Amino acid sequence: MIELIKSKMKLKTDLAIEKEYKDCVNDLINHEMVRKMHNFVQHGDISCLDHSFNVSYISYRVCKKLGFDYSSAARGGLLHDFFLYDWHVDKPYKGLHGFIHPNIALQNANEHFFLNNIERDIIKKHMWPMTIRPPRYKESFVVLMVDKYCASMEIVKIKSKSNVNQYQEMSTTLKDEKI
Ligand SMILES: [Fe+2]
Ligand SMILES: [Fe+2]
Repeated sequence: MIELIKSKMKLKTDLAIEKEYKDCVNDLINHEMVRKMHNFVQHGDISCLDHSFNVSYISYRVCKKLGFDYSSAARGGLLHDFFLYDWHVDKPYKGLHGFIHPNIALQNANEHFFLNNIERDIIKKHMWPMTIRPPRYKESFVVLMVDKYCASMEIVKIKSKSNVNQYQEMSTTLKDEKI
């Protein structure tokens, strides 16, 4: 009986967290340009949108746990790779993708959304230490670490039920929803 109550309470908490996360990124999820990220491959068979959802949601959970600005982490995480081209095939800009795409993503994000300083820093510095200037905010450090973690998981396809798959399920639900 206690287990049943506990599991119901956990479910309630999970649903509350899910709603809070959706509230943070609602306008971004429904934007046609953000959804275009689904057309571009990021790692293996993972689209840029799936990867960005993974980074956004895990960063949100980590920042919430640590008492950081989880909303900016969720939003910056979702837009951190908002560059809108297939970097494996062709890229419309000169230079190495690893170095240039944070600026392209920031440029695109600024064009379509109003970003706060933390969100801007998250996008611009997420490839640090490849970008020379280090991140300015603790949320940026969280997102850049989560990005590296997700990229590694996606590349080697280590998908245990408690990590990437879980977030991909959620991202699929969010993407398919018309909020
Ligand atoms: Fe990136
Ligand atoms: Fe990334």
